Amino acid sequence: MKLTQLLTIFLMTIGFTSQTLFAAELVKPSPNGISLPKNYKDWKVISMSHRIDNKTLRTILGNDIAITAARAGNTNPWPNGTILAKLVWKQKAEKQWPSAIAPDKFVHAEFMIKNSKKFKATGGWGYARWLGLDQKPYGSDKNVAQECMTCHTPVKDNDWVFTTPAIMP
Ligand code: HEC
Repeated sequence: MKLTQLLTIFLMTIGFTSQTLFAAELVKPSPNGISLPKNYKDWKVISMSHRIDNKTLRTILGNDIAITAARAGNTNPWPNGTILAKLVWKQKAEKQWPSAIAPDKFVHAEFMIKNSKKFKATGGWGYARWLGLDQKPYGSDKNVAQECMTCHTPVKDNDWVFTTPAIMP
């Protein structure tokens, strides 16, 4: 291989690596200091939901710790290190089959991060949300979790989590 070819491959590799690193860093952290979890788009599915009131589809994903816990039924409490992600899309009718509902515009990604020490004040969970495709951090101050917790209070005895892992064969 010629030196110039080697050099081209080298520069392309550097370019690619820095692009992927920067892509994660460009997203600003939540006002409460929580950073967007890396690689969450590669996580496995725990469940999904469909809100008929505001016409949105949701996929609930988990990191490896969450998936192991979900498969073992070890979810009350979820173990430390669990991260649950919820990705939300507006719904639309599937073009070729309108009675099927499909995801349309992306709304937001939100996360619950389990660390019973670090997030003791908020029930053992850190909460954060990023809006839209440009992943703008949600919330105006560090008390983002208060609003989340208020709504999650009905499931306080289920470790603050609504989702029951979907049944798998
Ligand atoms: C208006 C009420 C409401 C608010 C406010 C709310 N949630 Fe939820 N959240 C729900 C409901 C209901 C579900 C389960 C159904 C679904 O999938 O939407 C849920 C599910 C979740 C899930 C999936 C795990 C689970 O509990 O089922 C995550 C992660 C989540 N919410 C994060 C957040 C974060 C972060 C905030 C604050 C920025 C927040 N939520 C605010 C009602 C709320």
